[in-house]
Amino acid sequence: RNSKRQIECRRDIDRLNARFLGIYESLIPPDEEKVKQKQLVTLLKKLVIKEWPEAELYIYGSCGNSFGVSKSDIDVCLAIEDLDVNKSEVLLKLADILQSDNLQNVQALTRARVPIVKLMDPVTGISCDICINNLLAVVNTKLLRDYAKIDARLRQLAFIVKHWAKSRGVNETYRGTLSSYAYVLMCIHFLQQRKPAILPCLQLVPCQGMEITYAVTVDNVECAYFDQVEKLSSFGSRNKESIAQLVWAFFNYWAYWHDYANDVLSVRTGSVLSKRGKDWTRRIGNDRHLICIEDPFETSHDLGRVVDKFSIRVLREEFERAAEIMQYDPDPCVTLFEPY
Ligand code: GTP
Ligand code: MG
Repeated sequence: RNSKRQIECRRDIDRLNARFLGIYESLIPPDEEKVKQKQLVTLLKKLVIKEWPEAELYIYGSCGNSFGVSKSDIDVCLAIEDLDVNKSEVLLKLADILQSDNLQNVQALTRARVPIVKLMDPVTGISCDICINNLLAVVNTKLLRDYAKIDARLRQLAFIVKHWAKSRGVNETYRGTLSSYAYVLMCIHFLQQRKPAILPCLQLVPCQGMEITYAVTVDNVECAYFDQVEKLSSFGSRNKESIAQLVWAFFNYWAYWHDYANDVLSVRTGSVLSKRGKDWTRRIGNDRHLICIEDPFETSHDLGRVVDKFSIRVLREEFERAAEIMQYDPDPCVTLFEPY
């Protein structure tokens, strides 16, 4: 079943395309929701500034990277410059402050892998996680948002893929499947690889008229790329592929063409790197490197590290199922998203 094969495109691709666009539209958060999110963040800022006048609050994750569907939780990062701060103490203090302002279900999770304060806004029902000094996440959120501005097909594809992953139960890192962040990187990389390319490689500069226009160093990691993406708005226009074709090709790639044994997907270089070159050929600690996705900034970080020998099978079977459905199912827009 894993043998490489070429599959012909479907004849009803135009009808399918309209259906996928409809699903995409239905997942986009309405403007009122965006307004409510902003109001909550403004309230949080007000509360935080009272206690830590020098601090900043940043939105990261799906509400900031433009890949968030309706009813997503908000991920917020509290940036405090003081290097001596004890994260647990700050989180407990923060939880205290929020609790006394009538926010609900306030919980400080100081022992989690990423320590956070969780809360819910009783007015809007929006939930929010606040972490401390996770600035790399803020920067990669901007990178994803910038990629999304270049070609509308990225956001369309990523919404469909995330919706599929959530419906099929393969967007659960604690169970060994991939994060939303990993799926969006897979989509970006996939569109960088199309012929002709739909997305450029923003970090591979100077090249194609791009140079470094944004550079920050965070936790000793240099993050630099071309961020004047409004200049790239016609980059993908030579490629006429529709969203249905791209969804079809995306699942085909992950079902039948990706070389799981040797390849590392790299958005940073816009290419495929070798596992050998990164020394990701064997298990080290809990990192098994069975599917390899390089973080665009923390290049030693494999977003596939959570995948184990059981969940890799689940994932690959789901990719194959999706590819088969895209090829043969009379109603892929229903079957693809059937609950598992
Ligand atoms: P939703 O599933 O819609 O909430 O998407 P999301 O993008 O908010 O979810 P996710 O929890 O995957 O990621 C939150 C943010 O954390 C990402 O956008 C990244 O900015 C950041 N992040 C950085 N490194 C990692 C990582 O190794 N794993 C995850 N999950 N997130 C990371
Ligand atoms: Mg999130």
